[in-house]
Amino acid sequence: MTQDADADLLAEAEAARAFAHAPYSRFQVGAALLCADGTVQRGCNVENASYPAGICAERTAVAAAVAGGRTRFAAIAVAGPDGVAITPCGICRQVLSEFSPDGALRVIARDASGAIHATTIGALLPGAFGAAALGAR
Ligand code: THU
Repeated sequence: MTQDADADLLAEAEAARAFAHAPYSRFQVGAALLCADGTVQRGCNVENASYPAGICAERTAVAAAVAGGRTRFAAIAVAGPDGVAITPCGICRQVLSEFSPDGALRVIARDASGAIHATTIGALLPGAFGAAALGAR
């Protein structure tokens, strides 16, 4: 992906952030998942009064994409509050890894200064536990 494409996907994540339901943490997060068919699935965090029932932006995007029949992903962008570096949490890394067993999924976010950084899910979750360990797929 080009730097322009990374910025475009981040803009989608920033737009998705407006829909976050985060009345407890007040930490609104948006995600934009670029699917192999070229479509972009947005997600946002959805918190709950029963705190553990809340879900991160990355996983709402993945769940919505899978529910729509898309399971092959090229990249995900994540956007949090301005001035805060954000990276997917451990649970989201595991969920993203499920759909990128080779670790190639691109993960895009801003650092605290606002600069865009891109890495891969394989770099964020080395040695991931996956379907191969279960003899599945
Ligand atoms: N959160 C996300 O949605 N994605 C991340 O990458 C980090 C954290 C959410 C979870 C919770 O609703 C809030 O941010 C504070 O942790």
